[in-house]
Amino acid sequence: MTQRFRLCSVEDLAHDQPRCYRIELGDDKHLDVFVVRHWDKIYALENRCGHAGAPLHRGTYTDGLIVCALHGAAYRVDSGEIEWTAILPPPMSDYSSSDNPRIRQFGELIEAVETLPVKAFRVEVDGDTVYVTLGQPTPETTE
Ligand code: FES
Repeated sequence: MTQRFRLCSVEDLAHDQPRCYRIELGDDKHLDVFVVRHWDKIYALENRCGHAGAPLHRGTYTDGLIVCALHGAAYRVDSGEIEWTAILPPPMSDYSSSDNPRIRQFGELIEAVETLPVKAFRVEVDGDTVYVTLGQPTPETTE
């Protein structure tokens, strides 16, 4: 089943400036949607990093990619596919070789967290209003 939700107006979206909009789904459930406009294209993803769940709109958008602010995983905004996985900076990258067993265990856990793709949503513009459709397997963008 698919459902279309109003997100915002086109004029609310500054060029290359990601935003987050919350969709209320009922029964106290909601979905946070990452949205970015790049010239005349608008893209929407689930606003939750596929590594450890950080909000993607707080990341850096560049060249069709959103780079997560927390550990640097990058996703294609047109598909939600992974461009590169999370990068653990020092000292986190050294934890798994620590002499301290508790720190080593923590490091091994951190390294075991996978980076997964994020959901991309179909975007439609009707007049000046931006909509996303949930429940469709293949995302499409709009112009
Ligand atoms: S939460 Fe996004 S890269 Fe770790």
